[in-house]
Amino acid sequence: MLEISKLVVAYGQATILQGVEFQVRQGEVLALLGRNGAGKSTTLKTIMGLLRPVSGHISFAGQNIDGIDPFRIARLGIGYVPEERRIFNELTVMENLEIGRQQARNGHAWSEEELFEIFPNLGGMRARRGGAMSGGEQQMLTIARTLMGNPSLVLLDEPSEGLSPLIVEQMAEAIQILKRRGITVLLAEQNLHFTEYLADDAVIMEKGRIVWSGAMKSLMADATLQARYLAV
Ligand SMILES: Nc1ncnc2c1ncn2[C@@H]1O[C@H](COP(=O)(O)OP(=O)(O)OP(=O)(O)O)[C@@H](O)[C@H]1O
Ligand SMILES: [Mg+2]
Repeated sequence: MLEISKLVVAYGQATILQGVEFQVRQGEVLALLGRNGAGKSTTLKTIMGLLRPVSGHISFAGQNIDGIDPFRIARLGIGYVPEERRIFNELTVMENLEIGRQQARNGHAWSEEELFEIFPNLGGMRARRGGAMSGGEQQMLTIARTLMGNPSLVLLDEPSEGLSPLIVEQMAEAIQILKRRGITVLLAEQNLHFTEYLADDAVIMEKGRIVWSGAMKSLMADATLQARYLAV
């Protein structure tokens, strides 16, 4: 569904991604793992069109998307949840969701009620202003708002970061539901254990390169590999 080849990305003179290559299959959850500064967020931003690659290609559902504007990429069906939560503090939960609304895709459009089944907390605070929500609730609202755009692929940048264990569990459950609904998920994470039961496959980045890729099960069985590339 998503194919990235020989991707090179720089911030000014500094080359950050040095030939990143991996694929995400339709319907899977792929974990993009790596320590601080490995290049995970840079990869997601480039897929979303927020950074222009120096060279390399990105194709989504058979169409070349590198160098295309972010809003066009969103319209093609890619949803992006950045590391920093971006909700509107002055707007209510319902109003924040409304802002994310886009046309249906493949005959389905997420309704607020369906989203509240996935994120029950949000359903209990429909009229609450974004600014009066906890970090975890804001994180869930950001994901729910992204789903209002009816994406077929969702890029999640460290959704478990800074959340309490209980909220992390709810987040994991929400991602499971997305997967069951047929949504493809690219999950950038430092937290290997968060991805353990969610991801089918994993790729590991270090210093802007993919250093390992394979089944999540193989990674979980390999303590040496984990110790070498991940903060565990
Ligand atoms: N706007 C920027 N200008 C210059 N360098 C940047 C910029 N953003 C990130 N970098 C550098 O690019 C490298 C990759 O950063 P990136 O944010 O992609 O890492 P990451 O894997 O997402 O890390 P983390 O797990 O800490 O979020 C780092 O060395 C970082 O310092
Ligand atoms: Mg990051």
